[in-house]
Amino acid sequence: MCCPRIRTTAFNLDRLTYAGNLENLKDIESSDRYEFIKGDICDRKLLESLEFDAILNFAAESHVDRSILDAAPFLKTNIAGTHNLLETARQRGCTLVHVSTDEVYGSAETGLFNEGSPLLPNSPYASKASSDLLVRAYVETHGVRAVITRCSNNYGPYQFPEKLIPLVILNAISGKPIPVYGDGMNVRDWIYVEDHCRAVDAVLHRGRPGEIYNVGARNEMPNIELIRLLLGKIAEQLGMSEDRLTGLITFVKDRQGHDRRYAIDPAKIEGELGWRPETAFEDGITRTIRWYIDNRKWWEGIISGEYMKYYDVQYGERLRG
Ligand code: DAU
Repeated sequence: MCCPRIRTTAFNLDRLTYAGNLENLKDIESSDRYEFIKGDICDRKLLESLEFDAILNFAAESHVDRSILDAAPFLKTNIAGTHNLLETARQRGCTLVHVSTDEVYGSAETGLFNEGSPLLPNSPYASKASSDLLVRAYVETHGVRAVITRCSNNYGPYQFPEKLIPLVILNAISGKPIPVYGDGMNVRDWIYVEDHCRAVDAVLHRGRPGEIYNVGARNEMPNIELIRLLLGKIAEQLGMSEDRLTGLITFVKDRQGHDRRYAIDPAKIEGELGWRPETAFEDGITRTIRWYIDNRKWWEGIISGEYMKYYDVQYGERLRG
């Protein structure tokens, strides 16, 4: 996403691959401060044809399971695409906020990741670590005004159903098995999407060039605990039997290279930029479940065709045992 010279206008440059969806942008599409452009960050000519003075790089292939099936699109968009944005930022002298992930640190066996933790990526998706290093190199060599954010697991409305939380909600609503990888004791650190967006905004306006900011809500949870909590809330909202929903839990073959635990220390962004997560997990998760219940049309349009092909490759054999 790029902000042109009139400060309050945003270009949204998106290739609209499988998870891209213009339905998600209906609320702002008629705003005269917003313009959608269908395009690829790997297209340098397109980037050169646009006028802007800051770049927010949200563009990424982001699903770990897909990166295990085929790493190629990840390397192209996440690394070559970031290189293009860095070149553009260098030529224009504009700011770049590179939105990265806590996955670049690998698995936290103990303690919390801070910005100085070593980069030990374990999945082809986490090769986003390569783009982080490229950003660092452009800051050091070319003086590009770039800042990196590394956020923990996001959840909220409009999240593509391949990710754990929407997958659990939709499978529960539809009475389908809920696949839990391994022993379900892998830990993730969950943050509401709007808190993440406010963090990126704070970094864009007040972040120091060349710095890295971890973003997290200090909200660690083992997957199985999260899933049981979700099912309890779904049962409550739909007036269904909780036992029936927990009966859908199916332990399946683990993800390859599955990171055991993510846990991020957000002390730097809190102390330096005054950012704080504002959404309590209970509220965020209740709102998220309500959103999926109320927006059946949105997800029914997604969980067919291409998505079901992916679902079958990813889960077919696993669920057949
Ligand atoms: O930590 C930030 C990262 O979080 C982001 O950078 C990634 O883009 C995002 O995909 C996410 O990565 P995870 O691999 O942690 O998210 P995912 O929703 O795929 O899985 C969360 C946990 O749930 C993980 O331990 C794997 C497990 N899981 C996931 C799926 C989809 C299951 O047990 N069953 C499933 O069907």
